[in-house]
Amino acid sequence: MTKIYLIGYMASGKSRLGKELSELTGLSFIDLDEVFEERYRIGILDFFEKYGEPVFRQLEHTLLLETKDLDGTIIATGGGTPCYDENIRFIKDNGRSIYIRMGVHDLAERLKQIKRQRPLLKDIPPDELEAYIKTQLEEREFYYLQADRIIEAPVNDLEPVANLIRAISDGSFTS
Ligand code: S3P
Repeated sequence: MTKIYLIGYMASGKSRLGKELSELTGLSFIDLDEVFEERYRIGILDFFEKYGEPVFRQLEHTLLLETKDLDGTIIATGGGTPCYDENIRFIKDNGRSIYIRMGVHDLAERLKQIKRQRPLLKDIPPDELEAYIKTQLEEREFYYLQADRIIEAPVNDLEPVANLIRAISDGSFTS
């Protein structure tokens, strides 16, 4: 059963890329953050404020486990998903994974514009954002780097990534 998990830091482009790759390859696409918001009928930002991060992580873990029976699907995970609750083990055991890697500076530039939508970043002053991202990315790369493939972002040419996904999907991919 083919599942391709896109992992990587916030704003690295996992969701947009997932959608585009789904169109190119004909595979289905789901975004775990969207599944969360639809299931619990609340935005993630509000959820963090009301219930806190530990409860979010528990529910995120449950939603990840629910992807087990999907087939032919590209799954964009949240930036923290692989880094908690042995989720990376589940991802490795149940599909292939691609780390969408973006440098700290690019991430900071992007997140400066949109950090108010991210509960973990919204209260970080703009001049401390890059240092915060650097530290968190260093911790998280322990997990992200366990992916089967690393793709440098922003991705300008989607075709090689689409080919990788086609190879995973038809079984010709070898890690
Ligand atoms: C998070 C990333 C977010 C979302 C939540 C927590 C994180 O997803 O799951 O705000 O811990 O990095 P995106 O990576 O889609 O922004």
